[in-house]
Amino acid sequence: MPYPRVGTTIDDRDIAAIGEVLQSGETLSQGSVREQFEAAFRQHIGTRYAISVSSGTVALELAIHLLNLRPGDEVIATPQTYQASIQPLLTRQVTVRFADIAPDSPNIDPARVAEQVTHRTRAVIVVHYGGLPVDMDPLMRIARDNGLLVVEDAAHALGSMYRGRRPGSIGDIGCFSFHSSKNITTLGEGGMITLNRSDWAERLRSLRANEADMVLMKREEGSCGSMAPVPQALYPGNAYTHECLGVLRHGTNATLSEAAAAMGLVQLGKLPDLVARRQMIAARISAELARYDCVRLPAEPADVVYPYHLFTFSVDSRKVDRNELVRQLAVARIETFLRYFPLHLLPEWRAQGHQPDECPVAERSWFAEHMNLPCYPGLSDDQVDILVAGLSQAISKARRSPSFLRGRSGTY
Ligand SMILES: Cc1ncc(COP(=O)(O)O)c(C=O)c1O
Repeated sequence: MPYPRVGTTIDDRDIAAIGEVLQSGETLSQGSVREQFEAAFRQHIGTRYAISVSSGTVALELAIHLLNLRPGDEVIATPQTYQASIQPLLTRQVTVRFADIAPDSPNIDPARVAEQVTHRTRAVIVVHYGGLPVDMDPLMRIARDNGLLVVEDAAHALGSMYRGRRPGSIGDIGCFSFHSSKNITTLGEGGMITLNRSDWAERLRSLRANEADMVLMKREEGSCGSMAPVPQALYPGNAYTHECLGVLRHGTNATLSEAAAAMGLVQLGKLPDLVARRQMIAARISAELARYDCVRLPAEPADVVYPYHLFTFSVDSRKVDRNELVRQLAVARIETFLRYFPLHLLPEWRAQGHQPDECPVAERSWFAEHMNLPCYPGLSDDQVDILVAGLSQAISKARRSPSFLRGRSGTY
C-alpha cells in the first residue's frame, strides 16, 4: 500500500477538459480558462482574489515578497513543515523565531507564538498540517494585537474549514499547492494565492507574469534624451521592466497553463467527493486506533472540517517503539511517511544559529512519536481493510517489553 503518488482521482472529466483546451485553437498560456479557475477558487475559499501560479513554492515566495521584510525584522514560524514554507526567509537577513507545535497537535501552538513576539516581529507563517486547521482565532488575536501579518500555508488544507471559514481566507494571504500528492492537482504542479488586498493582488499579477510595471512606464514616458517621446499607449506589451522580486532582483514567469487550469476546474468540482472519501478512510483507521491506549490522534479545535490530506497519529514512545512500528508496517507492505524533519535542525537553519531543544515538542514528535499512514481517495475498500489489519498487527509487534518500561524514564 504505497503512500500516494497521486492524491486525487483522475477520470474522463479531467481528460476531456484538458483535451478541449488543447484542441480549442486558443492560447495555451494566460487565457480565459485560468481566469475561470481563479474565479471558482476565490468563491470556494471566500477571498476577493485568487491568483494562480506554477507551484505552492512559488506562491510562498511571492507571498513572502509582499511582506516587505527589512533586514533585522523577525518572523515567527512553525518548525513542523516542508522547507518551502519559510525557505525564502533564508536570504532576507531576517531572524526566524520558531514557535513549537502544540503538545496534542502537529500545528503551531498560539501560546508559543505569543512568547516569541518582540518589537521586531513583522509576520507569522502558519501551516495547516495535513489539512488540520491551525487554531486561528487565538493566533489572529495575537497577530492583530501586535500588528503582525499572517501567511497561511494552506498547501494541505484545500477542503478544510475552521469555524465557518476556509484556511487561506483567515490570515492576510493564503498559499495553496496543486502538486500531484495534494488534495487536487493541476497536471502535477500548480499553486494559488488567496487574499483580499487589491494592491497586493495587482502586484502579484504583474510579478507572476513578468508584466510591465505601468507606474514606472508612466513616469519614464518621453524621458529618453533628444529622442521623440513614445506615446504611453504603446508601452503595454512592448516594453518590460519590473519591480524586484526579493533577492532575485527581477520578476518571474510563474503562470499556470490553460490545460492545468482546465484540470483544476474539474478537480475543484470533485473536491467534496474527494474529501468525503478521505474522511471515510480516516474514520476507519481512527476507529481501529481508538482500541489502543498507546496511540494518540491530533486534537481538533471545535467546529473544523479536517480533510485528512495526511492521516497523522502519535504513539506513546514509552509503550511503542515508533521506528519498529514503521519497520513492521513496511514488512506488511504498508508505506509510511515521517514528516517533517524539524526545520530548525536542517543545516541551513542550524547555520543561522538554531539549535536542538529549541522546539522540544516538534523534535520529540519527529524522532519518536509521529507517523503518517496512506489515506487518499485512490485507496480501495479492500486496501483499507488490509491497512487496518496490518496496522493492528504491527502495533502489537512494536510494543515495548515491560523490562524496557522498568529501565527507562520515557526519554527518546
Ligand atoms: C506544507 C507545504 N508547503 C508548501 C509546499 C510546496 O508546494 P509545491 O510542491 O507545489 O511547490 C508543500 C509541498 O509540496 C507543502 O507540503
